[in-house]
Amino acid sequence: MTERVRHSFAVQAGHCERLGSPFTAMLLRLVAARLTGDTALGRRILGWPGDPEADALPLRLAGGLHALVRRGRLPDLAALYPPAAPDPAALWEALARAFATAADLDPWLDSAPQTNEVARSGVLMPGLMAVAAMTGSKPIVLWEIGASAGLNLVLDAYAYELGGRAAGRPGAGLHLAPDWTGPPPPEASVRIAARRGVDLNPLDVTDAQHRERLTAYVWPDQRARLARLEAALALAAADPPPLDRGDAVAWLAERLAAPPQAGQARVVQHSIALQYLPVQGRAQVAALLSEAGARATADTPLAWLAYEFEGGPAGLRLTLWPGGRTHRLATAHPHGQWVRWEGLPGSR
Ligand SMILES: C[S@@+](CC[C@H](N)C(=O)[O-])C[C@H]1O[C@@H](n2cnc3c(N)ncnc32)[C@H](O)[C@@H]1O
Repeated sequence: MTERVRHSFAVQAGHCERLGSPFTAMLLRLVAARLTGDTALGRRILGWPGDPEADALPLRLAGGLHALVRRGRLPDLAALYPPAAPDPAALWEALARAFATAADLDPWLDSAPQTNEVARSGVLMPGLMAVAAMTGSKPIVLWEIGASAGLNLVLDAYAYELGGRAAGRPGAGLHLAPDWTGPPPPEASVRIAARRGVDLNPLDVTDAQHRERLTAYVWPDQRARLARLEAALALAAADPPPLDRGDAVAWLAERLAAPPQAGQARVVQHSIALQYLPVQGRAQVAALLSEAGARATADTPLAWLAYEFEGGPAGLRLTLWPGGRTHRLATAHPHGQWVRWEGLPGSR
């Protein structure tokens, strides 16, 4: 078991390296190589009873450490956190001290990390612009499954520059400008008439503990990502996203069963969420959408906007009913840092 745990830390370190967090990669590699059973925390981690990779054990620990550093609980360790560039020996010494003394690290191992990556709005928003372009800019009823804290459900509250095209709310406290390749998205105004999201564990942007969790799981050397999250949380706290607690499939079935309002476009969106549903749940989502899509008309269109991993980077796909044609709109970084826009002409 110990070797399996060490391996999971090394594997996650590789992911962190690739996704632009060399600091978290170094921290996790140190734990992989040097953690011992001399402390209660070390024994709990090395003797982890479940699957450490599936349970995201390394990210539980990294999130807990980051939270305590941000709380001012571990000043020695905090001095070595970004923007400092510590040498590995000094970082390990401070980590070992934290493992021996910080009892409040233990509860962070109890639950899986949960994030809400707001830069994904920079990928979803051009998708909504494509929906607007194809539906005569009908007001949108936006439904999001796996919405977490709902930061991407309120995406019209942010300002954007998308391939040279301004969108969203000009001058908003959060400005998203992903590195863009390809033509700009269609010039179409996105008007959201109503919105609602669902999550198995919705996070409340007005709750300090929930905000702490969301922030803790952002890697500490990703300052721009942290700043974006803080800006989005501040905006959302003033007008919290409407979220339900529940399972995506049952929730979606209920929404899609209700008669649509003429003149509005219903959009179901999700980002890096479908993979967390069981295989059967994913198939049910697709079936519910295509059944409801078969009843959609030009006056009551239905769109499915999916920003999900596609065996490598992530892709943005739009399926629009009536017709049910799927358009691969873009390839994108999983955290929304860049977008390769393909747009509507390359439909299939
Ligand atoms: C990786 S997070 C992505 C959150 C958000 N979509 C984003 O892009 O930042 C996946 C989310 O899906 C939620 N989730 C997982 N399974 C679910 C289900 N069956 N029904 C509803 N939400 C679910 C999780 O609680 C989590 O908040």
